[in-house]
Amino acid sequence: MVKICCLGAGYVGGPTMAVIALKCPDIQVVVVDITKSRIDAWNSDTLPIYEPGLDEVVKQCRGKNLFFSNDIEKHVSEADIIFVSVNTPTKTRGLGAGKAADLTYWESAARMIADVAKSDKIVVEKSTVPVKTAEAIEKILTHNSNGINFQILSNPEFLAEGTAIQDLFNPDRVLIGGRETPEGQKAVQTLKAVYAHWVPEDQILTTNLWSAELSKLAANAFLAQRISSVNAMSALCEATGANVSEVSYAVGKDSRIGPKFLNASVGFGGSCFQKDILNLVYICECNGLPEVANYWKQVIKINDYQKSRFVNRVVSSMFNTVANKKIAVLGFAFKKDTGDTRETPAIDVCKGLLGDKAKISIYDPQVTEDQIQRDPTTTKQVSVTWDAYEATKDAHGICIMTEWDEFKTLDYKKIYDSMQKPAFVFDGRNVVDSEKLREIGFIVYSIGKPL
Ligand code: NAD
Ligand code: UGA
Repeated sequence: MVKICCLGAGYVGGPTMAVIALKCPDIQVVVVDITKSRIDAWNSDTLPIYEPGLDEVVKQCRGKNLFFSNDIEKHVSEADIIFVSVNTPTKTRGLGAGKAADLTYWESAARMIADVAKSDKIVVEKSTVPVKTAEAIEKILTHNSNGINFQILSNPEFLAEGTAIQDLFNPDRVLIGGRETPEGQKAVQTLKAVYAHWVPEDQILTTNLWSAELSKLAANAFLAQRISSVNAMSALCEATGANVSEVSYAVGKDSRIGPKFLNASVGFGGSCFQKDILNLVYICECNGLPEVANYWKQVIKINDYQKSRFVNRVVSSMFNTVANKKIAVLGFAFKKDTGDTRETPAIDVCKGLLGDKAKISIYDPQVTEDQIQRDPTTTKQVSVTWDAYEATKDAHGICIMTEWDEFKTLDYKKIYDSMQKPAFVFDGRNVVDSEKLREIGFIVYSIGKPL
């Protein structure tokens, strides 16, 4: 039986390995992590992450060919294929601080693999890493190898949170990069055989290592760029009377452009877009390409502009002050169908409103009070409720920060009646029917739409 071990039981490691275990009953999959509480949660009835469909997949395989363990060294030493899916955040200090990827976790994982390996291994980069990371990892492994052969592959993950299971079941493509040597190509075929259990072969792309590593950064940069493009247009729409939904629909009808990922919003969030673009910017700078670096930097600048534009609009339309006014924040996760709040635009919006002394009441169906209060920006001025009606009671304004489906069907008449007047709605996701809300009596501001 082929044995897989995955280092890192996070948003990528957990769901990806669960799906591999489900689709490959002939393979044993063990997911390990340095954080004991995370592994305990994976072994419990309450998984550490909320992801539609994940519970069912885990229930079907856990204890059969899917295991979660803290015994990292044992499982690494027994594995044939080791996926490394540890976090690769932005460096906060030293060379490249604020831009470069922090590979501390990756490097310590590689050193541990070299220490405990007693047989040949295929080591798979699942984390998103700077291009050429495989070269560094190869050096660490081979210089500490005691004659063991390591093949490094790049197999970046393209799943999006909230749709991770569907994305893993039906990926647009699986990408595998390897060395162009006979051993490298053999390793590529071994990994390809794992995915071929359920992914059509023509959707499994094989490339050299550097193309695979760079394609991941490029894909995220292109996706984020589409959002910044439509968000830039939303500002112009507001200034001219055009409607951004109509503009993006008309633009997306061009088959060369396509309709997806053109929803104007308060800004993109999530743990990856900003981090990966900064990483790309840093790599461009290090390679003497400042013009290319500046081009991609602009995607983040527009995103920051969109968030501060939103805050300014809230404050200016509420008579230039929100001091001591209750503002209900509906949604705190960075997108719907996840409880993840990493880099959520809601944090920046709350920070901005708190700067103007607002009193904030937050409701999100999947984010706990604990998680919100852990953020250093929250103060006594923030309260967290488990009910949208409680959050909006006596509020002067509502900011919709996440496109949860349930926000479309709230009883807005009831909400209006319980609010201070005039009652404002600032829809940062364009989810509510603004005309209906205006009929009730609300003053509604939507992103990129006429008043
Ligand atoms: P995460 O923080 O949820 O999970 C990473 C896990 O790795 C943590 O639980 C941490 O404790 C563990 N870890 C760190 N060092 C370890 C070690 N030496 N041994 C064992 N475990 C270790 O992160 P994530 O969101 O799963 O992202 C992981 C990587 O995947 C990142 O590089 C990210 O850019 C990339 N990625 C993320 C997504 C996403 O949707 N979250 C999608 C595609 C790619
Ligand atoms: C994104 C990519 O979509 C994945 O392919 C990639 O694997 C992943 O990053 C990663 O590398 O981490 P994710 O961040 O989970 O996935 O979610 P997205 O659906 O991409 O949304 C990102 C942000 O953009 C969210 O805040 C979302 O609300 C926002 N968004 C998305 C918009 O504002 N408008 C859109 O049209 C689409």
